[in-house]
Amino acid sequence: MSRLAVRVTPDALRQIRGGHPWVYAESVVSTSHDGRAGDLAVVFDDRRRFAAIGLYDPGSPIRIKVLHHGRPAVIDGAWWKDRVADALARRADLLGSVTTTGYRVVHGENDGLPGLVVDRYADTCVLKLYSAALVPHLATLVDAIGAVVGAARIVLRVSRLVASQLPGDLAEGMTLAGPPPDGPVWFHENGLRLTADVVGGQKTGHFLDQRDNRRLVGGRAMGARVLDVFACTGGFALNAAAGGALSVHLVDQSHGALAAAEANRRANLDLDAVRGCRFTSDVGDAFAALTALAGRGVRYDLVVVDPPSFAQNQAGVERAVVAYRRLTALALDLIAPGGLLFQASCSSRVPAERFYAAVTLGAASRGRRLDELARTDHPLDHPIGFPQGAYLKALLARAP
Ligand SMILES: C[S@@+](CC[C@H](N)C(=O)[O-])C[C@H]1O[C@@H](n2cnc3c(N)ncnc32)[C@H](O)[C@@H]1O
Repeated sequence: MSRLAVRVTPDALRQIRGGHPWVYAESVVSTSHDGRAGDLAVVFDDRRRFAAIGLYDPGSPIRIKVLHHGRPAVIDGAWWKDRVADALARRADLLGSVTTTGYRVVHGENDGLPGLVVDRYADTCVLKLYSAALVPHLATLVDAIGAVVGAARIVLRVSRLVASQLPGDLAEGMTLAGPPPDGPVWFHENGLRLTADVVGGQKTGHFLDQRDNRRLVGGRAMGARVLDVFACTGGFALNAAAGGALSVHLVDQSHGALAAAEANRRANLDLDAVRGCRFTSDVGDAFAALTALAGRGVRYDLVVVDPPSFAQNQAGVERAVVAYRRLTALALDLIAPGGLLFQASCSSRVPAERFYAAVTLGAASRGRRLDELARTDHPLDHPIGFPQGAYLKALLARAP
């Protein structure tokens, strides 16, 4: 791998030494030569001392993703293995579980491996690249994951941006090690049998970050009529069913996701509670579906609202806040007096306080109060390693 020497602004140097993993293009003062995506950028201070080493990407506004700072280090196969092993050790509490065999092994920058996500579903690992600078390191990464995690197969997923920069011998969804999957893979979460479409599903096939919140919701579902908005493959709905819900109604715009939710339901029919729960669903836009349900006078005891990220960039933050407020108001139109609202946000650009304020304002716009029961954030396998790494916040509240 080619290396280049880089000088950065004093402020960027301070940030790097404080452990921040990103150096923006405008903070790069000089480079020894033109680098390519994946080259190793060695950052020196103004006394020519080593400060950090990272992945260089000339096509990204985040020009360097820091791999290591402090004393000089060699970034070789052993270094990548050590980082993956550190990440696995951080998840020790999840490793031996038979009731949960799906979890995130590597959570990007937050585990010191910028741009890389590794999700494990039983014996399948999904390696997802969010940075083109990782592509030249892929073979080393596959070796490291194979050696440390020991999965039977490794599947490659890439973000849309990386997809456009893949070399001809790599493709989104291809199997990098072991036999290709012959369909969705099965794993366990909170004791439920679930599928992950690791080749074509959203993200890596399942939203692993909501596992603890699903259990929280399941624990409040006994005897409830439940509405699961933005249900995807039905994780919340199934936990509610297993928790004794009378009925669950799922809403999502993705036909494929709701078909997977139905497969998940059928896979858990050995549980009396799931067998006894009435499942229905609507394919379509959540805002329209909520409005239509309210128009029909339908009421629920527990409403889950878990939308996608609404703020893809800073300009989208205000729009996102308005959307959260509106969703709270629409959900409350459907919640019977004394019922529960669980609402989440995965927009990292929307600060937690703004999200909670939006929910409160949404309730006020309907003349309803919300009594908070819990505020939650990241589960163990989605650690927060730097400020931008904190994206998930959620609220469980009673609407008197
Ligand atoms: C963050 S995921 C929800 C994850 C899900 N609650 C779970 O536990 O797995 C967001 C979901 O919203 C769906 N979606 C996005 N925009 C939507 C819209 N306007 N109306 C309905 N569903 C939408 C996506 O298909 C996706 O399944």
